[in-house]
Amino acid sequence: MTAHQTLVVVDFGSQVTQLIARRVRELGVYAEIIPYDAPASRIAERSPLGVILSGGPSSIYQAGAPRLDPAVLGLGVPVLGICYGLYVLVDALGGTVEAAGEHEYGPATVQVLAAEGPASAFDPGSDEPVWMSHGDRVAALPAGFRTVARSRSCPHAAIVDPQRRMWGVQFHPEVSHTPRGTEVLGAFLDLCGFSRDWSMSRFVEESVARIQARVGKTGTVLCGLSGGVDSSVAALLVERAIGDRLRCVFVDNGLLRRDERAEVERMFAGRLHNPLVVADAADRFLAQLAGVTDPEVKRKRIGATFIDVFDHEAHRLGGADFLVQGTLYPDVIESVSFQGGPSVTIKTHHNVGGLPERMKMGVVEPLRELFKDEVRRLGLQLGLPEDMVWRHPFPGPGLAVRVLGEVTKERCDRLRQADAVILEEIRAAGLYRQLWQVFGVLLPVQSVGVMGDGRTYENALAVRAVESTDAMTADWARLPYEVLAKISSRIINEVRGINRVCYDISSKPPATIEWE
Ligand code: XMP
Repeated sequence: MTAHQTLVVVDFGSQVTQLIARRVRELGVYAEIIPYDAPASRIAERSPLGVILSGGPSSIYQAGAPRLDPAVLGLGVPVLGICYGLYVLVDALGGTVEAAGEHEYGPATVQVLAAEGPASAFDPGSDEPVWMSHGDRVAALPAGFRTVARSRSCPHAAIVDPQRRMWGVQFHPEVSHTPRGTEVLGAFLDLCGFSRDWSMSRFVEESVARIQARVGKTGTVLCGLSGGVDSSVAALLVERAIGDRLRCVFVDNGLLRRDERAEVERMFAGRLHNPLVVADAADRFLAQLAGVTDPEVKRKRIGATFIDVFDHEAHRLGGADFLVQGTLYPDVIESVSFQGGPSVTIKTHHNVGGLPERMKMGVVEPLRELFKDEVRRLGLQLGLPEDMVWRHPFPGPGLAVRVLGEVTKERCDRLRQADAVILEEIRAAGLYRQLWQVFGVLLPVQSVGVMGDGRTYENALAVRAVESTDAMTADWARLPYEVLAKISSRIINEVRGINRVCYDISSKPPATIEWE
């Protein structure tokens, strides 16, 4: 049941395909990503009012280069080709593409020849700053097209066929480095005739109706609340749809940050028909972790224990027909990868993946269509407080993957205390929102220090702070020295058992965000 209008983004493997969809959605139009090798019928099923062809890493004139099912161009809706998508369009319609003598990577300028089509957002005759990333260029236009902008190395930087309502741009309007890129995309959406009907309030209405239809009049639903933004928003949305037929369970695994359990209890108090069920399972998890130092063994034991505890709680509550999962849109996009090769498991992620099969429940995935930034907006719409909606991600296995070496209650307590100091100082410095994550890692290393007149031989702790947009890549944050100094001196003075603080200056890749 899709009530909103749809734009389809055909993915040719660009790093920024998701960004196209996000920008379009920010402009009030629902966008969905479909891989380039899907048959045109899959696109037609969505009844899109417009199609955008993404960029990609290939060269269209090379054998085996990804192409479009030609029937897509016969759907009769406007098409916008971006970078490689431009070549796909030109190639399919009888024009030619060649290697450009000069590559353009990064900021560039296009000269606007005519303020129409993809250049209609620009001023005629102006030099427009854009962002380029290409080694090829259009050599000859297909019949019916004309050029509306050119750049130094590319004579056809923006083209239009007004009759067939097809546009192509060599530059990337979806990235923020093309200052008026959003206007270019907006002009294309207008050409398609979108009424811009994608809004969070509309999504809530549609989604509530969809959940009601899936769960039926008597179905019951169980939700594992972690306190993170995804599960919290998913729970509130399901709550709005089915009220007292939802039961939410929070598992206290003893691996949480300071005050975390109380904060989650407070946040949901009064927001749910049925009170939040808290499963107190710290001893069980810690018993499973006794003597374990291998990160993968820790992760597997925690995952298995979580399923056991959750299953037990579900039975105690009399079972349920469905389980809520906080799956997001990036998890369901079929990725186009040209890297090839088998992928390796870096870390076994802990989630409730195995639960529905084991417990024979259906799943409800109310956030399947949303990007993370939309989930945050939805959270605000559903009345979650700002701090909650902007909380940093916290891994399922919790502090167990931040206490390196054996996980004991005492070592978790030590880390909890240090971690709380880090968060306090980061918040006080006003840096929390610009970081993706910031936390402490207790190292299985002791070092010699001197306190007062005495020798100490205690633990070292690493501070990890990263900037990222999706956790796939991350850079270590250039925190001000004064903030690092304050964190270090407070931890060493306030947390017993830690006498040295280090700052982690590794990026992902090659490091990962968490240490285990
Ligand atoms: P890494 O360490 O792989 O982490 O760079 C990427 C992001 O994922 C989070 N993370 C997890 N989240 N279950 C989760 O729900 C897990 O098992 C898990 N392990 C890592 C991590 O905090 C970072 O945001």
